[in-house]
Amino acid sequence: MVAEGRLWHTSPVPDTSLTTTDQSHTSTTGAPDVAAPSGLPHQWWRHAVIYQVYVRSFADSNGDGEGDLPGITARLPYLAELGVDALWLTPFYPSPLADGGYDVADYRDVDPRYGTLGDFDALVERAHRLGLRVVVDIVPNHTSSAHRWFQQALAAGPGSAERARYVFRDGQGPDGSAPPSDWHAVFGGSAWERTPDGQWYLHLFDPSQPDLDWGNSEVHEDFLATLRFWLDRGVDGFRIDVAHGLAKDLSEPLRSVAEDGEHLLSAIGGHNHPYWDRDEVHEIYREWRRVLDAYSPPRMACGEAWVHSPARRALYVRPDELHQAFNFDFLQASWTAESMRAAIVESLAASAQVGASTTWVLSNHDVMREATRYALPPGTDDVPWLRAEGAPPIDLELGTRRARAAALLMLALPGSAYVYQGEELGLPEVVDLPEDALQDPVWERSGHRERGRDGCRVPIPWSTEGPSYGFGTGGSWLPQPASWGGLSVAAQAASAGSCLALYREALGLRRRFGGDGELHWLAGFDPETTLAFRRETGLTCVVNFGPAPLVLPAGEVLLASDELAGGALPPDTAVWLAG
Ligand code: GLC
Repeated sequence: MVAEGRLWHTSPVPDTSLTTTDQSHTSTTGAPDVAAPSGLPHQWWRHAVIYQVYVRSFADSNGDGEGDLPGITARLPYLAELGVDALWLTPFYPSPLADGGYDVADYRDVDPRYGTLGDFDALVERAHRLGLRVVVDIVPNHTSSAHRWFQQALAAGPGSAERARYVFRDGQGPDGSAPPSDWHAVFGGSAWERTPDGQWYLHLFDPSQPDLDWGNSEVHEDFLATLRFWLDRGVDGFRIDVAHGLAKDLSEPLRSVAEDGEHLLSAIGGHNHPYWDRDEVHEIYREWRRVLDAYSPPRMACGEAWVHSPARRALYVRPDELHQAFNFDFLQASWTAESMRAAIVESLAASAQVGASTTWVLSNHDVMREATRYALPPGTDDVPWLRAEGAPPIDLELGTRRARAAALLMLALPGSAYVYQGEELGLPEVVDLPEDALQDPVWERSGHRERGRDGCRVPIPWSTEGPSYGFGTGGSWLPQPASWGGLSVAAQAASAGSCLALYREALGLRRRFGGDGELHWLAGFDPETTLAFRRETGLTCVVNFGPAPLVLPAGEVLLASDELAGGALPPDTAVWLAG
């Protein structure tokens, strides 16, 4: 969900603030016009490595225990040196934080706990000078219940124009005391909440996240204004939250989902489901694409679409819609050659059909970190972010080894890749957070059966010691494990075989061997235990999923995820070769 005594990657991104005076290489917003390997600068996203910054947990500049925008700005050189192309900021908008900021109270401002609009502008400017693009999160499926619109809706009462921006319905039964339908909230329980006047409103997530009605033109107009607001401030793109959820079948009577085998955020929709992955959602992204294309250079958008097949995902990245959609099949694939190959083959084929590049992802703020996930016995990690109680034994050494190999696999694939903060440090999931520290609404909504996603959101360790390992000068809003000093950026930057060193080296090599260039599977390897492919760019990648060492093919070894045993590739290891 992320290199060696050698501290910096092989081709550092220049800080153009020191050298650039020629504005002809600079976009209207100051975003660098660095040529993508495809030679199409405005299509930079096709091959980009985008680093996800979970704002609350990245760097705390004022010692209040929570990350903030100035903290991120101060750490941007780290990202430039790491070798990523862009960063995606999770929501930093005013929010009661009932769902970590994915409950937005005002889409066009910065929450004071994270800074100001001025701090945001400074962040964008500094990022652009360092050659980093900036993507921000947009949350269109629902607002916070603290949003002015929802407060107005509650006050205005049934039948009002204010309620028509959301999904209010009368309940069932003689007194309307039963919810309007059997729809489920992702975080547990009914998707309907009753208001004091007796009506119910829809919330596919927490009750504090009322769903908007995208059948309402005011909702469309308001989001177009929000897109323009951030685009005019210089952002290079958007990550679209719950992109598969906006369109709903609200025709009466509301349809039951009892027969749909619906399962949380997993493979759902696409069969005329009442609210997931409905075909009408695509018209919204066509509308957004026209706005993105009106900027010079055009801006991009990446959809978070949990859908049931690569073919359904490809619909989101048709030429007149979004540019990217996260490949969650890859993230959900188990650690076997068969599962990984299927995710790769099917995704490449589906995106090629619509002319898009594929968008690989191993982890994010919603899923169990892969160092832990890949350590779990097969079959226990299929719904990783809502892990059941009674976790099985975790062999972290094995999981970390696999996570490192997975990183080399992902970064060798054609297309774009997202790296979640701390992935490049090999951070494990924190599985033993004290119950009174848990903040994910999943914990309460599941009646304390599911611990939720806080374990992948624990603040980043930057230094080997200090009250929050350099995260800030104070504490941290989620407690960090005592062992995290050893996993810190400072510790790993000084260590030859560290995970950070591996990512830096891989990202540097990717600049030489990435880009366009089809993938060809290599013959002569056991498909049950091995993935082996060659890119037309000259990079060969071999991953050993089997129990025995594997003889390396010919070629100059560029990088290996762990030490090679003579001429052999040990189990759970990946290697990059030239030629
Ligand atoms: C997305 C976000 C997740 C959030 C949910 C509701 O899945 O990634 O963190 O809880 O949407 O907004």
